[in-house]
Amino acid sequence: MEKQQITSDAVMAALSKVQEPELHKDLVTLNMIRDLVIDQGRVDFTVMLTTPACPLRGRIEAEARQAVMAIPGVTRVEIKMESNVPNDGRPRGILQLPVRNVVAIASGKGGVGKSTVAVNVAVSLAQSGARVGLLDADIYGPNIPTMMGVTRLAPPQDGKLIPAEAFGVRMISIGFLVKPGQPLIWRGPMLHSAIRQFLSDVTWGELDYLIVDLPPGTGDASLSLAQSVPLSGAVIVTLPQQVSLEDAIRSLEMFRQLNVPILGVVENMSYLELPDGTRMKVFGEGGGQQLAEMGAVPFLGSVPMDPVVREGGDTGKPVVAVYPESVTGRALRAVTEQIAARISVAALQEGGGVTINMVG
Ligand SMILES: Nc1ncnc2c1ncn2[C@@H]1O[C@H](COP(=O)(O)OP(=O)(O)O)[C@@H](O)[C@H]1O
Ligand SMILES: [Mg+2]
Repeated sequence: MEKQQITSDAVMAALSKVQEPELHKDLVTLNMIRDLVIDQGRVDFTVMLTTPACPLRGRIEAEARQAVMAIPGVTRVEIKMESNVPNDGRPRGILQLPVRNVVAIASGKGGVGKSTVAVNVAVSLAQSGARVGLLDADIYGPNIPTMMGVTRLAPPQDGKLIPAEAFGVRMISIGFLVKPGQPLIWRGPMLHSAIRQFLSDVTWGELDYLIVDLPPGTGDASLSLAQSVPLSGAVIVTLPQQVSLEDAIRSLEMFRQLNVPILGVVENMSYLELPDGTRMKVFGEGGGQQLAEMGAVPFLGSVPMDPVVREGGDTGKPVVAVYPESVTGRALRAVTEQIAARISVAALQEGGGVTINMVG
């Protein structure tokens, strides 16, 4: 039998039929195919994703494999899945902040799980291989140190704060700088400069994602943040019930007015699963979906109530780190993947082209 000659053109042509389902373009147009090597019947290449937390990683790999296997003569396909998170294209040079994406986690009211979502999203992104920072901008009620199980910072170097690190996440919080229980009273200008300093006077290093945990509501901290650093987007956390919804709408509209893209809505404490398997809707039902529809923004997923989440928060062991396969662990990972996907989509739209090349 005569040997088939497989050309790189044929492989690229096959891969140009495979779509990136979120970005709605094919892998070749998106410049995602790297390091193509053809050795007789064997084809090796790398698919460069826009986030290591890509929710459709498995599907993209399977479709790429299938497309190349269909070329006559191909007997084996080896695919490496890697990622390079695009910069959102917003200028942060003035702050000397080498951060590709800054994402605010916000809510209308306190106690809805904003910090819980911020912590678990940050840890999940880090678990997937991204470089992640977590900025506790809740300067009235800083909970990040407790939730991440860290109490102190290393001494500053060269006049800059060095972030603490846990679960692969670099973090900074006013909680590291004041005594526990000490009341935190801020005047407007102090608050503004505290938030600015957390951006510019901290040696964050290069980050793919900086997650910002905001105080509840539409107060000064959110304004200061949005004025201090260009945000890639905001995620709104809400409970399923009506009153939470009303506050969440205000929060969403505030970001709109500040020209911050809304990445979507996360519903927390959606239900509590009882021992007999029934789901108790403690806080009502449907609020997250409703908010997303009203705001015409994506619904990013819901997270049930689970005592392990509360316990993880109180003991500094985020549920995605200690119980990754629990129902809430999975739900929080799925939410993380949706957030990462929305950031990629937004970056591609902002950049108006192929943005997965190396950016500094
Ligand atoms: N899905 C959940 N299941 C159980 N407890 C939760 C859940 N989400 C948050 N909690 C708990 O509820 C409390 C409030 O959450 P927190 O993240 O601090 O809210 P916020 O930052 O919006 O004020 C915390 O004790 C937290 O551990
Ligand atoms: Mg909080």
